[in-house]
Order: sequence, then structure tokens, then C-alpha cells
Amino acid sequence: MIKRYSHKEFEQIFSDENRFNNYLIIEEAVVEAYFKLGLIPEKDYEAIVKKAHVDLASIEEIEAITKHDVIAFTRSISLQLGEEKKWFHYSLTSTDVVDSAQSLTLKAANGLLLEDLDNLIDVTRKMAKKYEKQPIMGRTHGMHAEITSFGLKWALWFDELNRCKERFLNERKNIEVIKLSGAVGNYANIPMAVEEYVAKKLGMDYAKISTQVLSRDRHAGYIFSLAQIASCLEKMATEIRHLSRSEIGEVQEPFSKGQKGSSAMPHKKNPIGCENICGCARLMRSYVDVALEDNNLWHERDISHSSAERIILPDACTLLDYMLKRFTGICKDLVVNTEKMNENILLHYGVTYSGGVLSKLINKGMSREEAYDLIQPIAFKALNEKKLFRHLLIEDEKVSKVLTKKEITECFDENNYLKNVSNIYNRLLKPGKSLLVLGSQWGDEGKGKITNFLSEKADIVIRYQGGNNAGHTIVFDGHKYALRLIPSGVFNENVKCILANGMVINPRAFKEEVEEIRKAGFPANNIYISDRAHVLFDHHIELDRLNEESLGSKKIGTTKRGIGPAYADKISRVGMRMCDFISDEFPELYRNLLTIKNKQIIDMGGNPIDYDKTVKEYIELANFVRPMVTDTVSMIGEARRERKNILFEGAQGALLDVDFGSYPYVTSSNVTSGGTVDGTGIGCHGIDNILGIVKAYETRVGEGAFPTEQLNEIGDLIRERGHEYGTVTHRPRRTGFLDLPALKYSIQINSISYICLTLVDVLTGFDKVPVCTHYEYKGQLIDTLPSSDRVLRECKPVYEYLDGWDEDISDIKSYDKLPENVRKYVEFIEKETGTPVVMVSTGPDKNQTIIREEIF
Ligand code: GDP
Ligand code: IMO
Ligand code: MG
Repeated sequence: MIKRYSHKEFEQIFSDENRFNNYLIIEEAVVEAYFKLGLIPEKDYEAIVKKAHVDLASIEEIEAITKHDVIAFTRSISLQLGEEKKWFHYSLTSTDVVDSAQSLTLKAANGLLLEDLDNLIDVTRKMAKKYEKQPIMGRTHGMHAEITSFGLKWALWFDELNRCKERFLNERKNIEVIKLSGAVGNYANIPMAVEEYVAKKLGMDYAKISTQVLSRDRHAGYIFSLAQIASCLEKMATEIRHLSRSEIGEVQEPFSKGQKGSSAMPHKKNPIGCENICGCARLMRSYVDVALEDNNLWHERDISHSSAERIILPDACTLLDYMLKRFTGICKDLVVNTEKMNENILLHYGVTYSGGVLSKLINKGMSREEAYDLIQPIAFKALNEKKLFRHLLIEDEKVSKVLTKKEITECFDENNYLKNVSNIYNRLLKPGKSLLVLGSQWGDEGKGKITNFLSEKADIVIRYQGGNNAGHTIVFDGHKYALRLIPSGVFNENVKCILANGMVINPRAFKEEVEEIRKAGFPANNIYISDRAHVLFDHHIELDRLNEESLGSKKIGTTKRGIGPAYADKISRVGMRMCDFISDEFPELYRNLLTIKNKQIIDMGGNPIDYDKTVKEYIELANFVRPMVTDTVSMIGEARRERKNILFEGAQGALLDVDFGSYPYVTSSNVTSGGTVDGTGIGCHGIDNILGIVKAYETRVGEGAFPTEQLNEIGDLIRERGHEYGTVTHRPRRTGFLDLPALKYSIQINSISYICLTLVDVLTGFDKVPVCTHYEYKGQLIDTLPSSDRVLRECKPVYEYLDGWDEDISDIKSYDKLPENVRKYVEFIEKETGTPVVMVSTGPDKNQTIIREEIF
């Protein structure tokens, strides 16, 4: 790109030096992969990494002879190496390096382009807000049509730019990939594991299949996404140019001190910035054509694309950066002449209000045709005779027979045209997000605290599984609250809290909890219970006790809240749902149910439940819950349609999931993200993001394998510091160090997209913080979670020891201020799991939460 349209960062990114540096990064990563695979001696690998460097002058000199830049590069490096040079570029074809390095280059460019785009989106959002109520003449076919809001123009652009961003992010995924598949893509000379290793090391993806090159549809799609951004800018710039025409004069491009418009006409202030954007956009579009042609390569590749690509890729990125920065400046400092906008509305004697008069006449019973034919000549008369349309309407006999003077005057209120602007904004600027917050370990990760924190931005918080086995502690404004059944958004009156169909609900425990919340001063009038949720009765609790007793030393260590038996009844199709519980039939249904259940209890040597003693209380409890029981499936569907913000709150942790946990030492529901779909009726596409709550260490309550458990003073110390005692049963929690194989497993089975790391403060004061990276099982290193609890018990943790920290972090409010070793701990987890840590919790209080990235 010509210097005039290039910013420094992009010149650097697309410089020869950076290109060769990226070649070297790829080559060295390949050598490292070979070394890790045991195919290259360590000393050779180390020698290459130590000695190899980019020498531009030498490359240039060699290229003059070879006429091949990659060979020039590899030969130049070989000159720096000894015997080990045979491993440099070993088994690679040039394009393995060129294409992979190009992806690295584009990754850097894309990071900056995204920043540029976000800045422009932010400006459009602010302009939309600022001018939300500013009337402006809407023009269709270039003619005055109806009043609209100036803010709506920006809102429309905001919306389009967001679509552009989505497309760009999608295409990034396709372009930021490496390929190391050899000369025709068949991996004949290079193990596939090398490609996988290099991709992981560079934090990129690899093409699942390629020829000698990455398929060029990726590049075409990418360039198209850039061109679409440019085309959106062109559209905005064109509108600004139109609105700044002398006849309109509603906006003006910023015109700096000393700037000149025309060499011949000193009075002129031309919209040259916007004109420049329009011209650049034309160029951007032309790259798409070339990029599409580049897709058509012969057989396993020819080189016809290369020359074109050397120009269009750097140019498209560099030019778009230039356009975005320049245009953002124009928009930010745009001179807006609101007076002129108001004046222009008054041109044409008010005929632009004709649509409103038409509607009013129709509302009064006139046919559309009759009303139209009545108004049209009056509007034309106003224009021809330069008389106010409103006065002519009032004077007209036929009109005044139907409309009073007041009614006619009402048609000329500009608010008629602006009344839905804020509703459009609501739809647009609040797009309606859904986020699932779930425990990624063995429960008690701090889900309650984080759900309560996030619920400020939610319209609805939904619990989808479990019952009052859960215990969620919430601390704010100096008070501590413990929730078992009720979603952690209940303290926020504007948030609707749903106990969805996947839950098992003990109505007595529920009533107690509601009363506790009310006693604490919260109305708790925002609770809804699914009519499909199952009721947990006393007989379930008795059966839970009996099951545990019968298991003896093999007991699960349940919370004894009847959870397992309640879910067993649901699956056996003998459970009772809320819709039946609150019905008139309940006494009869309950009698039949109890007859069956009491037989089971007696068989197991337990205490049968007395129907007469309990039915009265249950009827009262049914009366208590009845007003809250509703069709929550429809409620949730409606909320989605209305683009409400929805939070799902998991209970327990993924490793206690009945399918994926360390069976049988699990709870009886699907705790994992799949449980949300079945447990609420939201549907598979209803969850936008999944936030895994990860305790900085590990705890477990109840029985079952726990590889990193610390049955020693360290474990006791963690327990005391973290107050690790059960919220529900007050049992001391078992404690241990962070277990990455388990966490990675959890991330996979839940599709966790973000991590919130909690209780980090508890680890303050340790000299070293061990993190389990692998298990050793029968002499083998594994990093996956075995299905059998027996096998997991035999897995010995293999630790990596990270440096600890002494500083008190409980009052730190920003990530940058955290001690370096805390950040290293966070970033280590991030790197190992490949999942961004977007929140860090440094204490139980709601305020002790650090946000790195807003996700909800
Ligand atoms: P949940 O079941 O996942 O909601 O977690 P629990 O509430 O049962 O257990 C988490 C415990 O840790 C509670 O006592 C919280 O008040 C507390 N807690 C949450 N986050 C933090 C944190 O970052 N630091 C400390 N020290 N305590 C926390
Ligand atoms: P929250 O939501 C920690 C454990 C029990 C037992 C196993 C089965 O606060 O994270 P159950 O009563 O469900 O049949 O018990 O599951 N368990 C929990 N552990 N936190 C929880 O919930 C738990 N809910 C159940 O200790 O090992
Ligand atoms: Mg808990």
C-alpha cells in the first residue's frame, strides 16, 4: 500500500522483516515439535533455536541468485548453523512455511483491525444515543418523506457494523490456521502430530485438510469480510456527503484550522474525508474479485495466486485500517447542525405530515381510497400556493366533517413519528443475551456469588437442575445469604427467578427459604416455579437415608435431601409434578403414591410416612406455591422472543453429573450444560455463552475419588482460609490442588467458553502453588479423566509448581494491579485450558470481583 494510506503498525506487520521472522517462528516450532516427538536430538534443537536469526541482507543476496525467497531464507539460516542445519526446514515444503507464517501475520493484523472496528462501533453507538430524539427529515427517493430520528441513522449503522464484525470474526477463524501437510497435502514426509503440536504452541488452529497450500476460499471469504466493512463505511460516508450538501446543510465533516476546501473557491468546506472513504471502498471491492480468482488453482496448487496475494492481502488490511481510523475520526467530530434539521422539516408547508392525516381519516371510517383522494389535492395546493397544509385541512369542508381542529392539529406532532424510536433502541442496543453459569468441578465453586453479581444485567435467572442439595452463598452490603432452591438473582426485584422443570423441589424447604428471604427484607415476589418440575416429598428423604445406610462403607455421602430418590421416581414415571401437586386431585394422587413408596420404605426397614399427618401440610404448601407455579417453558420462550437477558444458574459441579461425573459418587441430575436444554426448554440454540466457575483449587463433599486431595496440614489450611464447610450440611469439605485434566474434561463436556476463577485469595501465602497437569496411572502419563472411579482413585497427580504470592489481593479492583505471580497463575490456567479467564474473584463479597472482559 502507498505510504499515504499506511499506518506504521501495518507497515511493520507486512514488512519483509516480519515475514521472515514469522517464517522463523514456524520453522523453529517445527524443530521443537520434532524434538518433543523424540525425532531430533535435544542439542540440535537447542543449537538451532540459539543460532538461527533473520539476516535480511543475506537473504536478499541469496534470493538474487535463487529467485526463490523461501530457499533464500532457509539457505541464509543454514549458513548460521553447524551440523544441525539438516533439521532446519526438515520435511517441509516452502508453502508449509509461507502459508502458516502468513496466517501468523494476518492474526496480528486482525487483532488491530478488530480494535479499529470496535472503536467505530462504539462511536456509532454513542451517536445513536446522543441523537435518539433529534428529528430529521427522512428522505425516500431523495425526496422529503416523513420525520425520523437522526439517531436512528446511527443505530442502523451500528447494527450493520455489528454484522460486519460477526462476519469478520468468522472469517478470522478460517484464515488464522496453519498447514504443515507437505508438498501435496498427504503428510507423506511429515507426521500429522507436528502440525498439531505447532498449532497448539502458536495458539492457532490447523487446516484439517490442505493441498500444498491452504485452500484459497479462506482468503476470498476473509477479503470479502473486509470489503463488506469498507462498503458499510462507504454507505455511511455517502450519507454524510448528502446531508452536507449546500441545500441540506444538516451535517459537516470536521474542518480543521488552516484546512482549505478549494484552490479556486475560498468559501468551500468539502467533505473530502468521506469522499476519500468512498474511493478507497471501490478499491477494497476490487480485491474480492482477485481473491475469488485466486481460489482456482490447478491440481494440488499452482502459483498463480501468489503474486496477486502478495499485493491484495497486505493492501486490503492496511487500507481498511486506514479507512476505519480516518472515518472514525470523521464520525466522532462530525459537526451536526440540529437547527438546520429542524428548519428543513418545516420546508414544504407541513405536507410531510400527510401520512398521519391519512391514517386518522381511515381510523374514522373512511376508505383508504377516499381518504387518499381527499388529501392529495390539498397537499398539492399547499405546495403550489405556499400555504400551510394544516390550515388548508382545517378550512376544508369534507375534512372538517370527519376530523375536529384538535384532531387535525394532533397529526402535526413530530412525536407521532418518534414514538417508537426508544423501542427500536431497546431491540437493538440490548440484543438479548443468554449466559450459563455452571460449576466446573465438584460444586461450591462460587456459582451463587457470580450469578448474583451478573444478575444485575439479567432479566431472568433460571435454575435448571438439582434441588436443595445445592447451597449457594451470597455476600453483599455486609450481609450473607444462603440459597438452596431459589436462583441467586432473587435479591434483585427486577429479575424474574425461575425454578425450571429440571429441578426437584421440596415445597417445605422452598417455603422456608422464601420466608428467610422475606425476613431479610426482600419481597421475593419475583419467583416462578415450573408446572413440570417434580415435587420432592418426605418419602424421598427417608429413602435417601435408607439407601445410604444400605450401602454401608460404599455410601455416596449424599446431602440426605432426597435428591436421588426424587429423580429416580421421575425417571421411573412415578413422580409427581407441580401441575398435579397444586391440583384438586392432589390428595388422591398423593395417597396412591404413598402406598407404593411406603412399601419400598418398609421393605428397606424404614419409617413409613403417615398420609393423614402429612397430607394437610402438603395441601397448605401447595396453596403457598400455587400462585408461583406457571408454564415456565412459555415464559422462557417469550423472554427469548423479547430479547431479554437470561442467566442460567447451575447447581453442583460438572464432575458430579450423573452421566459425566465420577459415577456412582455423583448427584442424580445432569449438571452439565446439556442439562440446561432439558431442564428449561430453552432449546439447543438458546445458550450464547457458557461461563465455567473454577475454584483456584479443588474441593469435594461426600465420597468418591479426588486425585489432588491434601489430607494434611496444607489441606486443613486451605479449608480454614476458604471457610470450606458445606452451606447445606456444614460438613467440612475435602480440599486439594487444582486438577487440570479434570478441568479440561469439564471444559469439553460443557463447551465452556469462558472461565471465572474464584477463591484466588485463599492461595495467598503459599511459597509454591502446585497444579496437577497430568495423572500417572500404572506408570503411564495421562491427561484425560478415566470413566471408572476405581481407576481415578489409582491416578497419582503429577504437579507443576508455580510461584506463589504474599500480597493481600482481596481489595484489588483491576487485573493489572494483581501481583505478577497471580497473573501468571491465571494465565497458566488460561494457556493450559485454551479458555479465556474473563473474571477473577478475590473474596466472597460481590464487590470483590475483577472483570477482564465483559461477557454479559
Ligand atoms: P456455590 O455452591 O458454587 O454457589 O458455592 P458456595 O457458596 O457453596 O461456596 C463458595 C464459598 O466461597 C462461599 O462461602 C462464598 O461466599 C465463598 N466465596 C466465593 N467466592 C470467593 C472468593 O473469591 N474468595 C473467597 N475467599 N471466598 C469466596
Ligand atoms: P452446590 O450447588 C457440593 C454432592 C454430595 C454427594 C453427591 C450426591 O452448592 O455446588 P446428592 O445429595 O446430590 O444426592 O449428593 O453430590 N453434592 C454437592 N457437593 N456442592 C453441591 O451443590 C452439592 N450437591 C450435591 O455431597 O457427594
Ligand atoms: Mg455450594
